[in-house]
Amino acid sequence: MFLRHSSIYLGADSTVPEACHALRVIVAGSRASGATTERVWTARYSRVQRSLLYPVAPGGFSESVACSDMSTRVPYLNSRLQNYSGTIFAEMSALALATGSINLGQGFPDVDGPEVIKSAAIRAIENGHNQYPPGNGIVELRAAIAAHQKRFNGLDFDPHDEVLVTAGATEAIAACLLALCEFGDEVIMFEPFYDAYAACTAMAGANRRVVALRPPHWTFEPAELENAVSERTRLLVLNTPHNPTGKVFSLSELQVIADVCQRHDLIAVTDEVYEHLVYDSEHRSLASLPGMAERTITISSAAKTFSFTGWKIGWACASPALISAVRAAKQFLTYVNGAPFQYAIAQGLNECDDYLIEAANVLREKRDLLATGLVAAGFNVLASPGTFFLTTDISAVTDDDAYTFCRALPGRCGLVAIPSSVFYDDRDAGRHLVRWMFSKRRGVLDDALVRLQSL
Ligand SMILES: Cc1ncc(COP(=O)(O)O)c(C=O)c1O
Repeated sequence: MFLRHSSIYLGADSTVPEACHALRVIVAGSRASGATTERVWTARYSRVQRSLLYPVAPGGFSESVACSDMSTRVPYLNSRLQNYSGTIFAEMSALALATGSINLGQGFPDVDGPEVIKSAAIRAIENGHNQYPPGNGIVELRAAIAAHQKRFNGLDFDPHDEVLVTAGATEAIAACLLALCEFGDEVIMFEPFYDAYAACTAMAGANRRVVALRPPHWTFEPAELENAVSERTRLLVLNTPHNPTGKVFSLSELQVIADVCQRHDLIAVTDEVYEHLVYDSEHRSLASLPGMAERTITISSAAKTFSFTGWKIGWACASPALISAVRAAKQFLTYVNGAPFQYAIAQGLNECDDYLIEAANVLREKRDLLATGLVAAGFNVLASPGTFFLTTDISAVTDDDAYTFCRALPGRCGLVAIPSSVFYDDRDAGRHLVRWMFSKRRGVLDDALVRLQSL
């Protein structure tokens, strides 16, 4: 089959009729050139950041079908992933680049982690650790993860069969959902939620049930959690410290969650990638609560812990039976990843505890600095005891919804932030909330504060 690609870029505010017109132009052009082979037309419809691939049947073109289909479906993409063809992070990062704005949107720091870890990665490459590592991850890293879990979270894992190294926390989350859910099962998560939970739940053919976290302290109603459980509930996904809100779940909240999991025989999947980015309280792992070790998969990664988001070294820790199930899915996703980086992160986990404490102190100052600037600009800044995100309620500053506000922000003052509405099923609930990221160099944050003054 011969596929020829043609693409057209439509401006930021292009509408569906404009996109349709653009497709007609391409189709007319190919008719004029006598094309009869099957073609794939690509139109980038940037208003909703959709990539539209429309197949044209061999020997004929059907404009009307193209126009009616493209506003509702992303061609070729299965129905489970229709809502996940693009991400707000890519859109906003592209906007930051295009406008020369400071990117306080996407969650990656602008400085690398410790030199000693970088040197260890270079050394590992030079020492020939460049082929597939073992399926579970190298033994040095598994031992370092287990020791780290014991030291910081009071959790006991046997590196032999209770630790699985993954391609970032993201792969661990995907593997859990793919391995543990049957089609039609339900997965409970707190809203707002990190987008990968929804996408991976959809990939697994499961359905999500959300429980609201409500500002200003992002608390939840235990009765709502209880009501979210049905006969089909299989998993509960918990993220603490929590993206996007910065909430750190308290011990009493974890007890409520543990109680629900145990009474309804649910497996808990906990995403703790921000476990070391905690400023005003303490991180507790759900698995450390009585009765939870055997039903919890504890996930974390080196990305935020050591500021090496591009290395994608993550891990899942759980009972042998759970790890064995998760590995069954993981081995057919990436099989293995990042051999030299695994050696480097093992060294980091063993030797860099001081760095973790210092990094949290520096981030606390940066959080407070950005919060001061946001308050001075008129925003209501919500408390953020963890992660590297601050949430503002923008309703005192503008009548615009968060998405409109964030789209206009680069033009207004050269900054990029993320509309928190993207973390909600209930878009209205996040309508006035905007997420700002503060893990940036001091000079960049100072510059951001100056720019905020011109809002
Ligand atoms: C809550 C949460 N989980 C997981 C990840 C991804 O982690 P990793 O890069 O290790 O896959 C992120 C990244 O932003 C995150 O915010």
